[in-house]
Amino acid sequence: MFEVQLKNGKVFSCDSETNILAASEQAGLILEHSCLNARCRSCKVKVLEGEVVNEQEEFVLSKDEIKDGFVLSCNAKPISNIKLDIEDLGDVNFHKSTVLPAKIDVIETIGADILRLILRLPPSSKFKFLPGQYVNIIKGDIKRSYSIANIPRKDKKIEFYIRKHNRGLMSDYFFSKAKINDLLRLEGPLGTFFYRKNDSIKDIIFLATGTGIAPVKAILEEFNEDPEYLNDKNIWLFWGGRYQKDIFFNPEFNLKNFIFTPVLSRENEDWQGEKGYVQDILLRQEIDFENAVVYACGSNNMILSAKILLIKNNLKENNFYSDAFVSSN
Ligand SMILES: Cc1cc2nc3c(=O)[nH]c(=O)nc-3n(C[C@H](O)[C@H](O)[C@H](O)COP(=O)(O)OP(=O)(O)OC[C@H]3O[C@@H](n4cnc5c(N)ncnc54)[C@H](O)[C@@H]3O)c2cc1C
Ligand code: FES
Repeated sequence: MFEVQLKNGKVFSCDSETNILAASEQAGLILEHSCLNARCRSCKVKVLEGEVVNEQEEFVLSKDEIKDGFVLSCNAKPISNIKLDIEDLGDVNFHKSTVLPAKIDVIETIGADILRLILRLPPSSKFKFLPGQYVNIIKGDIKRSYSIANIPRKDKKIEFYIRKHNRGLMSDYFFSKAKINDLLRLEGPLGTFFYRKNDSIKDIIFLATGTGIAPVKAILEEFNEDPEYLNDKNIWLFWGGRYQKDIFFNPEFNLKNFIFTPVLSRENEDWQGEKGYVQDILLRQEIDFENAVVYACGSNNMILSAKILLIKNNLKENNFYSDAFVSSN
């Protein structure tokens, strides 16, 4: 058994068979993460002292990052005592992940390749989550990640937006076979994409592409519950798609300084709105990024590009949160 020490002095034990992220969770400490599958980089951390080995081969860290001691905590197992340059998320009220049954309540096509799905949970279920988190939906032996698109509701129903992937196993199920009352299983809640209150922030910026709007919608619904807290802040939403049909609903929230900008990346003569990529359109606004926070969700390319661009434009690295919708298998 080895000792893992965080930047804030907290220590937990981890054996050489367990990855750092899993061991931290077992010890009741939550570290930043998302996909749990060595693909999204959310759990990237620098090892200051000690040594680790990778559980599976990983392809997302650059040679320079590896040389500088960075690892993915969801994939790295210690082989000595280690010190990490990261703090845990403190006393955020995370709910323990469980597996529970769920039935399809609504399934409807809302675009050529997008489904809106509502699942209902057993009346006795105590499933709780933070707006912005995701779950794994399990059908037989297929398990895929999907973000919850609503805040917790009294009727316990949860909503998803699901994109079709060609030759995708879960896509094939949802788009060709699924029907009302089908029984599925859910594993969750998972991930650390949730809104962190910060009084000094003046601009709260959401960047979403495609179904990446799902967790953003959940967080905006959360804002709707306490709009006064946000009165002195600007809330920006840039939602990108290729074509007009990819902006599959009109985000309307009862928030004072809410500015929604849809952005299309493919030529479309009828489109009078913004064209290009969400991160580029964001940079054209007069925003002081030093006092801003960014929540980016959806395409991994958008997230990687936005992070680099925005940090160059004075955004603090710690004020960029992301949930990359990477392939789950
Ligand atoms: C934290 C998290 C939250 C997510 N939330 C959502 C969500 O709310 N809505 C949603 O639609 N998706 C979401 N995703 C993405 C979704 O889990 C994957 O796209 C999933 O693999 C699709 O399953 P499938 O069985 O249809 O396709 P698969 O059988 O997994 O894959 C079929 C083919 O498509 C490719 N592929 C699959 N997914 C992607 C992708 N995302 N990007 C590029 N290529 C891909 C695969 O590489 C493969 O070639 C999320 C992913 C993560 C990690
Ligand atoms: S790479 Fe570790 S959580 Fe995604």
